[in-house]
Amino acid sequence: MVTLKYQERFKTDKGVFDEFTKRTLFELQSKGMFDEVNIPLKVGKESNVFVAKHEGKNIIIKIYRMQNCDFLRMFGYIKQDPRYNFLKQHRRQVIMAWTQREYKNILRAQKSGTRVPAPLAWRNHILVEEFIGDGDIAAPPLKDCPPQNPNKFFEDLIIQVQKMYAGGLVHGDLSSFNILNHNEKPVIIDFSQSTLTKTPNAQELLIRDIKNITNYFIKLGVKCQTEELLQKIIASAPKKNKE
Ligand SMILES: Nc1ncnc2c1ncn2[C@@H]1O[C@H](COP(=O)(O)OP(=O)(O)OP(=O)(O)O)[C@@H](O)[C@H]1O
Ligand SMILES: [Mg+2]
Repeated sequence: MVTLKYQERFKTDKGVFDEFTKRTLFELQSKGMFDEVNIPLKVGKESNVFVAKHEGKNIIIKIYRMQNCDFLRMFGYIKQDPRYNFLKQHRRQVIMAWTQREYKNILRAQKSGTRVPAPLAWRNHILVEEFIGDGDIAAPPLKDCPPQNPNKFFEDLIIQVQKMYAGGLVHGDLSSFNILNHNEKPVIIDFSQSTLTKTPNAQELLIRDIKNITNYFIKLGVKCQTEELLQKIIASAPKKNKE
C-alpha cells in the first residue's frame, strides 16, 4: 500500500512524497509494477532513486521532484528534441515529458543492443527500470569503482556508444557517474539528457560525451583520442544518422 509510511520512513526524502507522487506510485503499484518501495538508493540533482521489490526481485524507481527540480534547464534541453517541440514552458508538463523521454530513450538504447537497465514503466514523473546489481548490492558507478582492466572496459564502452549512436541516440551526460561497473562490464544509465542523433545539438553532446570518457580513461593509462573516437563512432553508424 502506498501510504504516509513512506514519508515517515524516509525522512531524508522530504518533498518527494507529495500527494501527486503517492497517487502515481499507487497507480503503478495497482498495475502490478512493484510490491513496495523499499530503500532510498541515491538523491540526485533532479530525482530520488529508490529500490523496490517486484515478485521478490529488486527494481529501480526514479522519482523526479516536481517541486524543486530545475525545469527551466530541462526545458532548455528538451525543446531542441524534435519529438518534443510542441512543449510549452509549464513545470508539470516539462517534468512529465522529461520522464517520458528518458523512458523512450532507454527503450531505444535497449533496442539498439546497448547494455542498459531494461525500462519497465513510466507514469507522470516516475520511471521504473531494471535494477543493475547482484542480490541487494547495486552495481557501483565507475567513479567509485574504476575497472581492473581499463583498456578492456574502455573498448567495451566504445562498443556501447557505437551501438547507441547507430540506434539514433546520443547519451548527452556520459561520465563516470552514469556508467555502472557491473562485474567489470559497463552498463549505461541516466538517459535523461539523451537525444536523437538528428537533433541540432546532438553533435555537440556527442563531443562532450567522448571528451568526458577519454579524460577519465586517459588518467587510467588508456591511449585514446577524442577526435579519432568521434570519427570511429560516426563512421560506424548507418548513413541516415549522419545526414
Ligand atoms: N538501474 C539502476 N541500477 C542500479 N543503480 C542505479 C540504477 N539507476 C540508478 N542507479 C543509481 O542511482 C544513481 C542516480 O541515478 P541517475 O543517474 O539515473 O539519476 P540522477 O543522476 O539523479 O539523474 P539526473 O541527472 O536526472 O538528476 C546512479 O548514480 C546509480 O548509483
Ligand atoms: Mg546520473
